[in-house]
Amino acid sequence: MIIAIDGPAGSGKSTTARAVAERLGYVYVDTGAMYRTVALAFIRSGLPAEAPPGEALRGLLAGIRLDMRFDPDGMRILLNGQNVTGDIRTREVTEAASRVAAIPAVRERMVQEQRRVARAEEKRRGGVVLEGRDIGTIVFPDAEVKVFMDASVTMRARRRHDELREKNSDVSFEEVLDDIRARDARDIYRRVSPLRKAEGTVEIDTSHIAIREQVEMVVRAARERAKSPNV
Ligand code: DC
Repeated sequence: MIIAIDGPAGSGKSTTARAVAERLGYVYVDTGAMYRTVALAFIRSGLPAEAPPGEALRGLLAGIRLDMRFDPDGMRILLNGQNVTGDIRTREVTEAASRVAAIPAVRERMVQEQRRVARAEEKRRGGVVLEGRDIGTIVFPDAEVKVFMDASVTMRARRRHDELREKNSDVSFEEVLDDIRARDARDIYRRVSPLRKAEGTVEIDTSHIAIREQVEMVVRAARERAKSPNV
């Protein structure tokens, strides 16, 4: 079974996707981490994250090997054999990832890898929970369960700000709010695979509900779908 969870930054997707995967014994695939890793490769190579020259872009992509490892406590990601799971969470990478994700050649490559990894893990574990922006629309339009999570921009910025403060960052709430607004705009208005609600999606507004409830809603949708005769 494929469970696709999409939504904007800070909507609670990652926490929910991870918990749903744990409850069902499935693998959790964080597709944002893949775009972040490509962004890290851009930064390391000095290539501009916006409109890089075609030749240089092809060279960079050809030289990138991504490996995803699925541990009980989450997904680890390796760039050419090096574990970069921690390195891709900086503000610089977050900003670059949102630009790199608008490049069609990058998206094509990521979608291919996501389908390959998800199908392999589905065979092994019976199910996969993928989280991102275009999972239900582009990567797996025929996913058995599609979920779109959203919350007000202030609520999402508040959550992100709390998370950053826990990590001892001194970034202000206003800066986080500005970053999220800029990322929303790039996710929603980009030409290729913009953030959209897929057809047949379960919509969850996470502004005022507890994580436990969000997880329950997705698990219930998955169990109902598993009971239907064509799964
Ligand atoms: O979910 P995240 O913040 O880790 O994602 C990082 C960036 O990658 C974000 O700007 C949106 C982009 N992204 C995307 O375009 N498509 C996906 N399936 C996942 C992430």
